[in-house]
Amino acid sequence: MISIRNLWKRYGNTQVLQGLNLEVAQGEILVILGRSGVGKSVLLRHIMGIEKPDRGEIFINDIEVTSDHPHLIKNMGMLFQGSALFDSMTIGENAAFYLQQHGDPRTGKPIPSSCIREKVSQALTMVGLAGKEEEMPANLSGGMRKRAALARLIVYRPSILLYDEPTTGLDPITAKQINELILTTQKELRGTSIIVTHDMLSAFYLADRLALHQDGKIAHLADPKTFLKIDDPTIQMLKESLKLYTENDRPH
Ligand SMILES: Nc1ncnc2c1ncn2[C@@H]1O[C@H](COP(=O)(O)OP(=O)(O)OP(=O)(O)O)[C@@H](O)[C@H]1O
Ligand SMILES: [Mg+2]
Repeated sequence: MISIRNLWKRYGNTQVLQGLNLEVAQGEILVILGRSGVGKSVLLRHIMGIEKPDRGEIFINDIEVTSDHPHLIKNMGMLFQGSALFDSMTIGENAAFYLQQHGDPRTGKPIPSSCIREKVSQALTMVGLAGKEEEMPANLSGGMRKRAALARLIVYRPSILLYDEPTTGLDPITAKQINELILTTQKELRGTSIIVTHDMLSAFYLADRLALHQDGKIAHLADPKTFLKIDDPTIQMLKESLKLYTENDRPH
């Protein structure tokens, strides 16, 4: 269970988070929507514990990640918006990194190299990058790097998974495969997932609940059906974007 209480964060003159509250239940997939620049990535970085709020608290299973001496939450992984692979490591080394660093995310016990190699190979196959262990990130396309970053998350198998734009920039077929992978991973790990996306089709495919991040807060939060009925201009625009374009929409 993730509990975010009255979170405030300012960068220079930009007040990004303004008393944000959010509770995410164990086992749920929460999708966060919101206009570009509202602070969705900032929020995820706070949950990961890699940024500190000006005010407010975040508890993960009763451990405060915002305290001055937080326990490192090893049982959590994040797919960063820009993939964030380590450029100097091969795809295989990237995918193995967290397991090598932290061991088993639940017990902290080290995992033998041969076992890590096997897990890396399986995860790369799952994301459609079988046999790409020795490639360097710079030699892959943007979509392939994103899938490699997803493989790194799947290999690690944390029970809290944060995804920042997992399908942006991917072709629709790969995007669908990634969404299926997110669902299977969630089920297998019986995890808790927070997914930030601009992709409305993915949002509706994945979400148990949908949240709208707006004006520094979670302005609305509901199950997908109820969410679409909320009387809010942004939600209504998002709803419109779900309708397929037709010939009649073309201006010429
Ligand atoms: N480290 C930082 N230093 C200064 N400003 C920052 C920093 N990180 C984020 N910001 C600012 O915080 C605001 C929110 O950024 P954030 O990246 O969270 O937006 P976002 O909602 O994820 O947008 P997008 O949908 O485009 O990814 C922006 O104005 C951004 O410039
Ligand atoms: Mg972002």
